[in-house]
Amino acid sequence: MEHPTSDFSAHRRIKSKERVSAYGEVFTADREVNAMLDLVKEETERIDSRFLEPACGNGNFLARILQRKLAVVQRRYVAVRADYELYAFLTVSSLYGIELLQDNVDECRTRLFHILRDAYLTHFPQADDKDDYLQSIRYVFHRNILWGDALTLRTPDGREAITFSEWTAVNGSGLIKRRDFELDMLLRNQPMQGPNLFSDLGDEAFIPTPKAEYPLTHYLKIYTQDAAQL
Ligand SMILES: C[S@@+](CC[C@H](N)C(=O)[O-])C[C@H]1O[C@@H](n2cnc3c(N)ncnc32)[C@H](O)[C@@H]1O
Repeated sequence: MEHPTSDFSAHRRIKSKERVSAYGEVFTADREVNAMLDLVKEETERIDSRFLEPACGNGNFLARILQRKLAVVQRRYVAVRADYELYAFLTVSSLYGIELLQDNVDECRTRLFHILRDAYLTHFPQADDKDDYLQSIRYVFHRNILWGDALTLRTPDGREAITFSEWTAVNGSGLIKRRDFELDMLLRNQPMQGPNLFSDLGDEAFIPTPKAEYPLTHYLKIYTQDAAQL
């Protein structure tokens, strides 16, 4: 299998003919990405709206959504660094991806991280990659962009269920609640049509059980979290 170089550009749509036939790997052109995102424009500009790209490649859709949301964060919150950081964190933590090929996973995480980092450093140039903030951002991309098979909902080696983290801000304090859920369980209990999870029509509600819960943690310290499971 061909291994792409780190200079892979969003404009290249095919890595190799073999990958096209084995994995259907043809990346979506930017014009189409933007046209499709415009169909749900308001959601792409709502900081906490969650997106899952189930065969995300190197992140063409996620990258554009990230840029759109960050433009909103910049407009509203750039005057106060802590506000910018929190809302940019919530933006990052709202984006999820699954991808079968590990090199694409790595590229996607790196690409999204660079978009966030470049925007952040433009406004706060005194920061660097070792800052707690950027380490936490890198960690969230690591947790949210997963090596997985979107058909089996497991890692491609079959060993583990795809498990996503839900990140919730607690009243603007900077504290974040993380709960992990198996995707399989979330999807199995999702009604195909009719009332949604939070229906108040008297029908049975589905309350998913987290696989793991974590103590409240400040967004600057999220990257230290793996040892701190409840
Ligand atoms: C047509 S490309 C689209 C990539 C990206 N969403 C885009 O629009 O540019 C399909 C991607 O799905 C990945 N893929 C193929 N089968 C998959 C599966 N079962 N689970 C997850 N990803 C898969 C391929 O490796 C490839 O990166």
